[in-house]
Amino acid sequence: MKTRITELLKIKYPIIQGGMHYVGFAELAAAVSNAGGLGTITALTQKTPGDLANEISKCRDLTENPFAVNLTFLPSLATPDYPGYVKAIIDGGVKIVETAGRNPQQVMPYLKDAGIKVIHKCTSVRHSLKAQEIGCDAVSVDGFECGGHPGEDDIPNFILLPRAADELEIPFVASGGMADGRSLVAAMALGADGMNMGTRFIATKEAPVHENVKQALLAASELDTKLVMRPLRNTERVLKNNAAIRLLEKERALGEKLTIDDVIDEVAGVYPKVMLDGEMEAGVWSCGMVAGLIHDIPTCAELVARIMSEARSILEKRMQQVG
Ligand SMILES: Cc1cc2nc3c(=O)[nH]c(=O)nc-3n(C[C@H](O)[C@H](O)[C@H](O)COP(=O)(O)O)c2cc1C
Repeated sequence: MKTRITELLKIKYPIIQGGMHYVGFAELAAAVSNAGGLGTITALTQKTPGDLANEISKCRDLTENPFAVNLTFLPSLATPDYPGYVKAIIDGGVKIVETAGRNPQQVMPYLKDAGIKVIHKCTSVRHSLKAQEIGCDAVSVDGFECGGHPGEDDIPNFILLPRAADELEIPFVASGGMADGRSLVAAMALGADGMNMGTRFIATKEAPVHENVKQALLAASELDTKLVMRPLRNTERVLKNNAAIRLLEKERALGEKLTIDDVIDEVAGVYPKVMLDGEMEAGVWSCGMVAGLIHDIPTCAELVARIMSEARSILEKRMQQVG
């Protein structure tokens, strides 16, 4: 299948695995890339640039296909060694970077000089246009449905994607709520050049997370996510658990007075406990509404092949009815 995204990234299918904290390790990234999509290592999950360099080289041993590194710019006071991570990406010969969190202007000259394609993930048309203006090669347009940080505009993909298609010149992928062949055909019908999936890729055999996490996704429906940290303008869509309910109670009780310190117990240091140790009540963790569409744990190759065959069948059979 050829789209502007497969051509740009030199991949077989227009299916990207978005960066995910404590999920986007080499094993998953390589499995997605070997399946013909684009796998992504999450830089900040690696404690130091040296660790990231090792993870990149591990991924290179596992796949000969292109893979990406996600570089998330955190809104917090924490200041990761961004120059060090960028150097590890460039020295590791990675040719695709997914940026997120805020626009990547500060690192663009380094990435572009190294011939790296930059996909910026953002949640609005105005941020997508800014990414285009500063030289990003593509954007990943993350709708309100998405797991993680949907921004503060709350525009779902049925509106956001055609709006992006009307305004953007660079290629873009649909992100948020994508799960299967229906998602891919719909995303392309709305003007996208492919799709990015987060939550769906967690429930795969190769995702190196605790079995409890995968089972939680199978058990969840589309009604089981919550938006937390909205009063801090750092909204995150997470799986509903006791920590999320506790956090929302604090938000209600403290109103405008809420600070990050009030929610630190529910958000700090949670990911290794949930993803690696399977402590499902350790705190809040990102999860998309798409959980309602996840009913099995295939390999990445099975998932990607199924998506492509379902997409082809929709185009061949169902779409014929349109004419
Ligand atoms: C558990 C989890 C962790 C995530 N961590 C990150 C991250 O560290 N950086 C980032 O840019 N996006 C992160 N995301 C967002 C995904 O890359 C992707 O944009 C999102 O999951 C798409 O929505 P979906 O879950 O409906 O597919 C995370 C998502 C999940 C589910």
